[in-house]
Amino acid sequence: MAPVLNLPLNVGHIDDVQELKKARKTKIPNRFVRDRAERPMLATTPSPLSSSIPVIDFKKLMTGNKEEFHFEILKLSASCEEWGFFQVINHDIEVDLLDNIEKVAMEFFMLPVEEKQKYPMAPGTVQGYGQAFVFSEDQKLDWCNMFALGLVPHSIRNPNLWPTNPPMFSQTVETYSREIRKLCENLLRFIALSLKLNENVFEEMFGLSVQAIRMNYYPACPRPDLVLGLSPHSDGSALTVLQQGKGNTVGLQILKNDEWVPVQPVENALVVNIGDTIEVLTNGRYKSSEHRAVTHKEKDRLSIVTFYAPSYEVEIGPMKELVDESNPSKYRRYNHGEYSRHYVTNKLQGKKTLDFAKIPPKK
Ligand code: OGA
Ligand code: NI
Repeated sequence: MAPVLNLPLNVGHIDDVQELKKARKTKIPNRFVRDRAERPMLATTPSPLSSSIPVIDFKKLMTGNKEEFHFEILKLSASCEEWGFFQVINHDIEVDLLDNIEKVAMEFFMLPVEEKQKYPMAPGTVQGYGQAFVFSEDQKLDWCNMFALGLVPHSIRNPNLWPTNPPMFSQTVETYSREIRKLCENLLRFIALSLKLNENVFEEMFGLSVQAIRMNYYPACPRPDLVLGLSPHSDGSALTVLQQGKGNTVGLQILKNDEWVPVQPVENALVVNIGDTIEVLTNGRYKSSEHRAVTHKEKDRLSIVTFYAPSYEVEIGPMKELVDESNPSKYRRYNHGEYSRHYVTNKLQGKKTLDFAKIPPKK
């Protein structure tokens, strides 16, 4: 999470969505009601594409025999090219730890609203409790409560935003985040290999990678057809790792071939997606897909999301190995801190944020 705006912003009153749900009003406040074109079409039958979201067996990448490894690398490469998303199984992170982070996240969201608001997300910033990416009074709001913290480097931490209740919160976030960081480092090695690059290329380029965590709580909504849990966007990270609450309903959707495809949770799997940074570095070969979250009429949903990105000092641009005459640079070079700042100071709007880096195609 990059340095952010210090401008005074008038974002109007932002309702706490869990409190709205508690009030049991049947009418959805106007600020949450999407314009017709943005409303989710809630399919009654699951999309046939939904079952084809790739599943990567991490164990085969780490300790598989030559054939297993080769097969899994090919699958990884196809997933990143065609989907920009995959689910990772056998990731080596203990199930107890997945359970524990979910437990402390739920305990936090279940606290009285006054308690949670001791850690407010100031307008225009992205850490703390509230709604991120809201910049004006007339912007539509997401049906979601968020709690986000910057983790690495230490200098991005704001100690005032770390809750002391639930008591195990901070310690669990630290342990969880160390494990997720290792997973990201390993996945980036395999992603490099899948591109036939030196396996350490990303690690060497990224410096001390930036890491942040965001917990998203989507209360049930009496009119899921009118609202969005999270607006369509791609992630500004290099990689994002998303944990879905155990037994939760489907909520995350990926835009593929103009269709919103729901991600069916796989038990104990982690959902991984390519962020804008890897799209740029690979000159568009690996995609940061647009995605969003929808809500459910009866059930709340929780997700725990880790963003992993290069250090703010790093200069980003398509890697020379992936650019040639027949495949010229589609993106310019820029400073990653500058991109992060651009990302967090604009509302979520599909893949528009990446226009920042795009070189217009020659006519
Ligand atoms: C995100 C995100 C989706 C979800 O936090 O960037 O895409 O299902 N979340 O919570
Ligand atoms: Ni996202």
